[in-house]
Amino acid sequence: MTITTCVFDAYGTLFDVAAAARIAAEEPGRDALAQCWQKLANDWRLKQLQYTWLRAVADAHGDFWDVTQDGLDWAMENNGLDDMELRERLLQLYWELQAYPEVPEMLGRLKAAGLKTAILSNGSPAMLDGAVKSAGLVELLDDVLSVETVGVFKPHKSVYDLVGQRFGCANEEVLFVSSNGWDAAASSGYGFQTVWVNRAGEPMDRLPWKPANVLKDLTTIPELAEQL
Ligand code: LAC
Repeated sequence: MTITTCVFDAYGTLFDVAAAARIAAEEPGRDALAQCWQKLANDWRLKQLQYTWLRAVADAHGDFWDVTQDGLDWAMENNGLDDMELRERLLQLYWELQAYPEVPEMLGRLKAAGLKTAILSNGSPAMLDGAVKSAGLVELLDDVLSVETVGVFKPHKSVYDLVGQRFGCANEEVLFVSSNGWDAAASSGYGFQTVWVNRAGEPMDRLPWKPANVLKDLTTIPELAEQL
């Protein structure tokens, strides 16, 4: 079936989540961070995601900004960083994340081909608004869908339901794109056509479902959407 709607995960997929720690590490006076920014970024991301899954199964929802701060606090402690000014700087940078370089042209090509484009993210509406505006993507997206509408994190089925509810499309008409292997896999199980953007060359997650397509970056999404 023809793809009508292309939906993207936000953090790690359109927006470079390691950029916050990388940019801060390059600033003057950040010697301690410069020694460990990659591990800090990795710890931050892993804890942030773990907390989303734990809160979902424990029925203890808090928004993604809370979870992002909790993950950062754990990661800073784990890396011996006790610095409130650095904490605030990293959070500010996370709010203003840049998109990966290929994103604007890729979204523009999808729009030119007549497809609907959207974000479907764990992010809170305010966080997503900040990132979409600072990355200059406002005009390239038909909508930005947040899990806050349903009050539970991915990969809960009710999150993926938001796409059909918003666009009135069948699941097979949706190409869902995520850099999170578990998100691409779970959305495949849900019934979307899927892409896992595996920039880091990670092993595939061992889950009951698999992403239908694996790409190194987002450049060829328009061609793939046309072929499917
Ligand atoms: C998101 C996280 C999972 O944007 O990356 O939903």
